[in-house]
Amino acid sequence: MREGTATLIRRADYVAPIFWIRTVDLCFDLDPAKTLVASKMRLERNAAVPHGPLRLHGEELNLLRVLIDGESVSFRQEGHELIIDNVPDADFTLEIRNTCAPEKNTALSGLYTSGGSFFTQCEAEGFRRITYFLDRPDVMAVYTVTLRADKARYPVLLSNGNLVETATLDNGRHLAKWHDPFPKPSYLFALVAGDLVAREQRIRTRGGKDHLLQVYVRQGDLEKTEHAMNSLIASVVWDEARFKLPLDLERFMVVGVSDFNMGAMENKGLNIFNTSALLASPATATDADFHRIESIVAHEYFHNWTGNRVTCRDWFQLSLKEGLTVFRDQEFSQDMAATPSARAVCRIEDVRALRARQFPEDAGAMAHSVRPDEYVEINNFYTATVYEKGSEVVRMYQTLVGRDGFAKGMALYFERHDGQAVTCDDFAQAIADANPGSALSTRLDAFKRWYSQAGTPRLRARGAYDAAAQTFTLTLKQTTPATPGQDRKLPQVIPVALGLLARDGQALPLMLQGEDGAAGATETERVLVLDQAEQSFVFVNVPSEPVPSLLRGFSAPVVLDDGLGDAELLVLLTHDSDAFNRWEASQRLALNRILGAVRTGQPLVLDAAYLEAMRAVLRHPELDPAFKALALQLPDEAYIAEQLDVVDPQAVHAAVEAAQTQLASALQADWAWAYDTHQVTAGYSPDPVQSGKRALVNLSLAMLVLNATRSGDGVWPGRAYQRFKDATNMTDRMGALSALVNAQAELADSALARFHAQFKGEALVIDKWFALQGRAAERDGKTFARVKQLMKHPDFTLKNPNRARSLIFSLAMFNPAAFHRADAAGYVFWADQVLALDAINPQVAGRLARVMDRWTALAEPYRSAAREAIARVAAKPDLSNDVREIVQRALA
Ligand code: PHE
Ligand code: ZN
Repeated sequence: MREGTATLIRRADYVAPIFWIRTVDLCFDLDPAKTLVASKMRLERNAAVPHGPLRLHGEELNLLRVLIDGESVSFRQEGHELIIDNVPDADFTLEIRNTCAPEKNTALSGLYTSGGSFFTQCEAEGFRRITYFLDRPDVMAVYTVTLRADKARYPVLLSNGNLVETATLDNGRHLAKWHDPFPKPSYLFALVAGDLVAREQRIRTRGGKDHLLQVYVRQGDLEKTEHAMNSLIASVVWDEARFKLPLDLERFMVVGVSDFNMGAMENKGLNIFNTSALLASPATATDADFHRIESIVAHEYFHNWTGNRVTCRDWFQLSLKEGLTVFRDQEFSQDMAATPSARAVCRIEDVRALRARQFPEDAGAMAHSVRPDEYVEINNFYTATVYEKGSEVVRMYQTLVGRDGFAKGMALYFERHDGQAVTCDDFAQAIADANPGSALSTRLDAFKRWYSQAGTPRLRARGAYDAAAQTFTLTLKQTTPATPGQDRKLPQVIPVALGLLARDGQALPLMLQGEDGAAGATETERVLVLDQAEQSFVFVNVPSEPVPSLLRGFSAPVVLDDGLGDAELLVLLTHDSDAFNRWEASQRLALNRILGAVRTGQPLVLDAAYLEAMRAVLRHPELDPAFKALALQLPDEAYIAEQLDVVDPQAVHAAVEAAQTQLASALQADWAWAYDTHQVTAGYSPDPVQSGKRALVNLSLAMLVLNATRSGDGVWPGRAYQRFKDATNMTDRMGALSALVNAQAELADSALARFHAQFKGEALVIDKWFALQGRAAERDGKTFARVKQLMKHPDFTLKNPNRARSLIFSLAMFNPAAFHRADAAGYVFWADQVLALDAINPQVAGRLARVMDRWTALAEPYRSAAREAIARVAAKPDLSNDVREIVQRALA
C-alpha cells in the first residue's frame, strides 16, 4: 500500500458494516495482461448502525464504471477506497466493472498467474485487488461466478461451490459458471483457470451422502497426489467421528500451485495449496514432508467448519479459526499415529516447534497476544502466536473441561454460531456454557487473559517433603515478563498436569489434603489449576520423597523452572510414564549443560553421567526409535537463545557444536550399532514405525560421519556417499547427503553436484538442495560464502517464494552461526534481500524482516551492527506496510 498512508488499526475501534452485501454475481474475462471483472451485488443497509456513505475497498484496480439500480452514479476515489455518497435507503443493486493485471501481480495476493495458469489468494485482504468490495470478514454473501477464458490454454475453470453451467463460446473461448450456496466472506473466494489434471475419488460419508473429492495439479504431477488424497479422505472420516462435523459440499476440490506465499488456503470447497504442502512421492519427498502434507491437508479441510461455517468477525479474531484449526489438525495427527508412543512423538514435535518459533516471538519486538489489539498490516499477524500458541490455548480448554466436555462445547459453538462471523469471546462462552461448574467456567474471565496478555509465563515449582508427616507440599509461582505495550501482567489460569514418582520410578498416588480417602487415592496423574500468583498444594500419604513430574504432555505453554537436578531428571528420563516428560528430561539435561557453558564462557565438556544416560536411551530395548531420535537431538539454538538475556549466537553455536562432537565420539560404537540395527528393508511407507527408524538411522549416520570427518577417517563418509547414491527414497538420500554436507566431508561437493543433476526438473527437490546448503553447519565462513555464491545460481530466483525461502530464510532463520557474523556481512545481506524482496512480494519480505525481532538481546558487536542494518531498511522511502511495521517495531 505505497500510495496510501499506513494507519494503525485497533481492535477497540470495531464497528459493524454500514451495508451488507447479500449476493454477488461475478463475471471474469480472464486474460493475463488485463482481466475484466464485472460484479453485480445486492446491498442492504445495516439498520443497526448510523447512516453513512458506501465505502468499498479496492487496490491496484482500473475502474471502468459504477451503476446503482442500472443508473450511473457519482463517486469519489480516496486512497484505497471507492466512495459513493448517494445511495438508496432501500435495498439496491450495485454494478461495477474494472480490470486488473494478473501477470504483473508478483505479490501473489488477489488474482495472479503462475506457470501459465490463473490462481487467487484472498485472505486476508486480497479480494480488493480483484474488484471493489466490502472486503471484511463480517460481510458474507452468496456468490455466483462466471469464468470465461481461452479453452486451449485454460481447459479447467474452477470456483467455489457447484458447477451449474458450461458452454463453448466464440474465438476458442469457453465458459463455466459456479454457484456456492453458503454465504461466505470475500477472503474465502477463489478461482483457478489453467491446464490442470485431477485425481478423483468418490466417497460416501456416514450420513449416506455421496461426494466427489478432486486434487488438481499440473500434468506430470498426478502420481504425487495419492498421499494428499488419502490424507483428505482420512480428514473427512476423522472430523465426522471425533466432532460429528460432516462434509457439507457435493464437491470438494484441492489445487496445487508452485507460487504461493503460505502453506495453503481454505477457500470454500476449493482449497489452494502450495505444491510443497501437497505433492509427495517416496523419491522426491521426505518422511517429514509426508507428515506435513497430511497435517496441512487436514488443517485446510477442518477449516471448512472452523473458519468457514463459523468465521471471524474481524481479523483480530484470527486465532478463533487458526488456533482452533491447528489444535484440530494436531489432534488428528495424534489420532492417526495410532500407538501411544507415536502420539507422544507428535506432541513432542509440536512442542519443539512452539518453543523454537513462538517462544522467541513472544520475547521479541513483535510480541503480541493471541488476540492482538492493533496492527498496521494484518499479513504480519499470521504468526506462531496466533497459530501455535492459539492452539495451546484451545488445548487448555480441553484439559480443563475434559475431552467429552470439549466436544460438547464445540457442539454448542456450532449450534449457536453456524453461519455467523464471531469473536474469541463467543467461542470461550460456548465451551464454558456447555460445562457449567467446570474448572473453566468458574474462572472464565481469568482464563481469557490467555487472549489478551502477551509473553510466555514463567512457572516456578518447588517441592518440600515432610518425612514425619508424609506430606509433599508443592508451591507454584507464576510471573509473565513485560512485553511491548504491556508492562504489568495478571496471573493466568495454568493447568498443571502432574504425577509424583518415587526414586525407584514407581508412580505414587496423588491425594490432596482435605480430600476424603476414596477420591483421588489411587490416581497417579491429575491436573492442578493454578490461578493465583502463588499457590501451594499439599499431597498426603506420600511414603517417600518424590520426584515431581510437572506439566505432563506440556499442559500449558509456559517456561517451567522446577529446580530439578541431574539425579531427579535421570529418574524422570528413565521411569516417567509420561513420554513427553521423559523427552523433556533429556532436553533439560542437555540444556543445563549448554547454558552452563555459555554463561561461564568455559568450553563445554560433557560428563560421563550425561553420556551414559544418552547411551542408555540409545540402547534401550523398549523405547521407540522415533522417540530415541528426538531425545538424542540437542535443543534448537533458537530455544537456547531464548533462555538467555544476552545472546552471543556464536557462543551458543560453539557449545551446541561441542556437545554434538562429544556425543558423536563418545557414543561412536552405539551410533554404529543403531545404524546397523534400524535399517528398513520393507517397501517405503511414511508410517510412524518406518519413519522413526529412518530418523534414528539418519541421526546415527550424521554422528558417525561427523566423528569420522573430525578424526580423518574415511570409512563412514564413504558409506554415507554410497548410501546417498543407492537410496531408494528421499528420506534416506537427504539423510546421507546432509550428513556429508554438515560434516563438511570431502565428498559433500560431489554429492551435491550429483543430486542437482539427478533432480534438476523437480522444483521442490531443488528447493531442498538450496535449503540444505543454506542451513549447512558453518565453519570458517564457508556456508555464508556459499550462500552468496548460490544467489547467482541460474536456478535461483526471488520471485518464487519457495525458492527465496529455501536459500535466504535457511541462512537467516535457521543458521544462526552462519548469519550472525562479527563482520556484520550477514546483516548487510539481510537488509539487501529484505529490500529486494519488498519490491516483489511484501508478504515474503515482511517475514524475512522478522529475523531481527530479538536484536536487542544480542551481545556486541552483533547488536550495534543489527541496529544499523535495521535502520538502513527503515530509512528506505516507499517501503511496504508489511516491512515498515516490522522494522519500526524493532526500532521502537
Ligand atoms: N488461512 C491459511 C491457513 O492457515 C493461511 C493463509 C493466510 C494462507 C493468508 C494465505 C494467506 O490455513
Ligand atoms: Zn489455517
